[in-house]
This record gives sequence, C-alpha cells and structure tokens, in this order.
Amino acid sequence: MNIESNKSLRPYNSFGFDINAEHFISVQNTESLAEALEWSKQHHYPVFILGGGSNCVFTRNVAGLVIHIAIPGIELPTATTIDHATATIKAGAGVNWHQLVIEALSRNLFGLENLALIPGCAGAAPIQNIGAYGTEIGDILTSVEVLNRKSGEQLTLSASDCDLGYRHSLFKTPAGSDFIVTAINLKLSRQDMPNIQYKALQQTLQSRGIENPGCQQVFDTVCEIRQAKLPDPTRLGNAGSFFKNPVISRQQLDAILKINEKLPHFPQANDNFKVPAAWLIDQAGWKGHRSGPVGVHKAQALVLVNHGGGNGQQIAILAEQIKKDILKRFGVTLEREPVLY
Ligand code: EPU
Repeated sequence: MNIESNKSLRPYNSFGFDINAEHFISVQNTESLAEALEWSKQHHYPVFILGGGSNCVFTRNVAGLVIHIAIPGIELPTATTIDHATATIKAGAGVNWHQLVIEALSRNLFGLENLALIPGCAGAAPIQNIGAYGTEIGDILTSVEVLNRKSGEQLTLSASDCDLGYRHSLFKTPAGSDFIVTAINLKLSRQDMPNIQYKALQQTLQSRGIENPGCQQVFDTVCEIRQAKLPDPTRLGNAGSFFKNPVISRQQLDAILKINEKLPHFPQANDNFKVPAAWLIDQAGWKGHRSGPVGVHKAQALVLVNHGGGNGQQIAILAEQIKKDILKRFGVTLEREPVLY
C-alpha cells in the first residue's frame, strides 16, 4: 500500500486550497479500497473519501486518512446489455465525468449530453444526483455498486434504492453514509433524441438557428453555455453552484414578487416554488463581489471563487454573509451544496 503522509490536497480540490492530508492513498480498485479501510481501522484513523474534489470546501488540514477514489474503467455494452433502443454502460467511480460523456456520445449512446462539462468523477454523480440543463443522473442511472465501509460487504443498489432527489441521495443520509461508491451503471438511449426542455438551452439553440438538434449539437451548446457562465476550475478555483436553489411557499413567493415581479419561479409539489438562488444573490448585489482573494463569480452569482491564495475559511465566511443577507432581504434560507470540512 502506498500511503503518503502530509500530502498536499491542492491538486485534489477544485478550489485549489493548499491544505494537507495527514495520510493519503489513491486507490485503483475495490480490493485496495478495502485494504486502505482496514489500515485506517488498525490505526484508529478517521477516513475521508475524496472523489474529484469538485464539491468540497476544505477549511483546515484533514486528520486521519484521505482515500482518493481513482477506480478507472468504462465497460461498454455487451450483447446482453444492449437492445434496439437502449444500452447499459458501467463506469468506475474514478472515471472523469466529462470523459464519460464524450465516450458515450462518440459511441452513439445518448442521454448524457446535457450533463457535459460537469467537473468531478462518475462515483460522485449519484451522491449529488448531478443535474444540469433539464437532465438529472437519476433519469439514466440503473444501479450503483458500493462497498460498505463498516462491514466490508459489496452491494449493488438499484437506482430506486438510492432515493434520489434534487441534489440529494441516500448517500447523504445516515442510512447511506457507510456506502462508498465504486462504480455506476447507466442505461443510455440508442436514439438520437435529445432533451431540450430547459429554457436557456432552447433559447441558445434557437438563436443559433438550430431547429431539430441532435445530441451532438446539444452537447456542443451545453459546453458553450457552461463555458460562458461557469468558471473553469483549473483556471479559477470554485465548486460549481455553492447553494441549492431553494423551494419556497406561495406566501414567500408572493412577498418577493412584491419587491421584484421578475423573480423566475417554477411550481413544485404542495403549492411550493423553486426559485434560482443565483437570481436572489444577484439582486442583492453580490455578483462580482470580492472579499480579498475570494469572491462571487462575475458571470454566475451562484458560484463562489478563489482568485488565488484564498482559503476555505474565507469562502465559509463569505458564504455565511451571503446567506444572512438573503435571509434578511427575502426571508429565504439558502442551503449550502458542497461539503464543508
Ligand atoms: N440568474 C441570475 N443571475 C445570475 C445567474 C443566473 O439572475 O448570476 C438567473 C437566470 O437568469 C435564470 C436563473 O437564475 O433565470 C437560473 O440560472 P441558470 O440557468 O444559470 O441555472 P441555476 O439555477 O443558477 C442550476 C444548477 C447548475 C446547472 C444549471 C443549469 C443548482 C444549484 N445549480 O443553476 O448546476 O448547471 O442549473 O441546469 O441547481 C452545480 O450544481 O454545480 C451546477 C452548476
């Protein structure tokens, strides 16, 4: 086992924070993962499971053992997992998400194109239930392979076992916190019929004069929209959306509409409405704000950024200030998306 000590996690977190792991190992398969867990048990070390590092804010050094999940491999459909309409593929938890999207599309397997350019690895996709431009991974996920870190048991959970919701899953609850994702299985379509329900996507396609787009054109357009709005973490440290889009009551909605009738809102169950956190933060004047080395992105108010040399504590303080201000102005409580350590 190649366990390193005092390892800088700077290349392993998309904010680029320079903090250290007390001990660190990168695992390429389930057996090495089980061995690393066993080693941590023997030494009574806490374990931190790290995927692509694109959804965490490290505010301090990490005590114990950081296990970086680098399990590779894309298994393409076989005669038993393909039919005239669909095909199943399996991806190791450490596969780069965007590479998986590209690989699927290059083999005429459709359904992932709206999820292009999402930073991170395949294993994190069901944990977050990643979603963008009208598609969530829950729409195409068939099952998730996991290792139970306490019992050592390997299990396959069906998509419905994963209890997926908006940026939510079983894995974020106490009942699922012992599971470590080792691989995911996705059912993709063999029909080139993209999902273009998302308004911003539709509008951009229309503005390009694209009438009946194929999945490749949707992929290209999603990449274009994302590149225009969302900072590339290799150039400007960030963790994507910092807050979830809040769901509010009709009463709360009416109160905000009285202040500004332009608030975009989307009906949900029980007479509730989802509203864009980005809009609230933008209206409150935070877009482009800087607090020393950290700030709010100039093109997307939902993204907090590290301009260089910032740390997790500064991001946490800024996030708290924004949260308090939004509560005061609009009576809405924002919920953080990334994990804070
Ligand atoms: N808006 C503003 N100001 C801004 C940005 C957006 O007023 O600075 C308004 C837009 O005009 C629009 C609304 O807010 O009416 C929504 O904006 P956008 O389409 O950019 O989406 P979002 O709600 O801000 C969500 C996801 C993103 C995902 C996009 C596209 C969450 C927390 N975020 O953002 O996911 O890419 O939709 O589907 O649900 C992520 O999770 O890291 C992420 C980037």
